Amino acid sequence: MNDKERVAHYAAQRVKDGMLVGLGTGSTANYFIEELARRNREEGLRVSVVSSSVVSAMKAQSLNLALVGFDTINRLDVYVDGADEVTADFTLLKGRGFDLVREKILARAADQFWVLIDPSKQVDRIGANYPIPVEVMPFAWQMVKRSLELLGGRGDLRQTTNKDGLVMTSYGSLVLDMVFDAGLDSKALNDRLSNTPGVIEHGIFSQLASAVLCVIDGQVVEQRV
Ligand code: 5RP
Repeated sequence: MNDKERVAHYAAQRVKDGMLVGLGTGSTANYFIEELARRNREEGLRVSVVSSSVVSAMKAQSLNLALVGFDTINRLDVYVDGADEVTADFTLLKGRGFDLVREKILARAADQFWVLIDPSKQVDRIGANYPIPVEVMPFAWQMVKRSLELLGGRGDLRQTTNKDGLVMTSYGSLVLDMVFDAGLDSKALNDRLSNTPGVIEHGIFSQLASAVLCVIDGQVVEQRV
């Protein structure tokens, strides 16, 4: 069992009967979905799930988990997802997939947000290893890009494709992947990105995590926020 699978199984074991569970997106989230489905099948665990992406929704449905529509709920018990970077103060970077808007909405609406990582995701500062994904209104991307450049950012439109072979999100927006000066702390950057007109959402998840579960030397270590 690899580290992602180990931490995902640990998290799935903590899910209780009757919970409404938010499903993240990515390889760690996939292991979580699989283990939740196994408990559902073999242990009679009864949960409902809501998904942060089409791909996780399809996986959940194929494994017979009870999927509820995103637009039919106003809260959930727990949201479980991976992250690309996590700092010591539990700020996260997410969004290397194309689903950061739904991910952040679920993280905020959940009573608890469990973040599943291995030590490679722990960083001194947000942006240490990856650019910051910034989702933008398509018609405004050039003006938003310039605004971000005036904040010291460098980057461009994401050119990799999503599962449909498109460079846009499932709701038709575009993603700028931007690198900022290391001196700009994530709190200031979070506020500036959130206040830039044309930005729909960005990948800095500040004050949203309630627990970070990390595999260290084969053991899951839980840090409560
Ligand atoms: C997708 C995400 C993922 O949670 C993040 O990229 C981690 O992925 P993985 O579990 O495959 O390492 O934020 O938008």
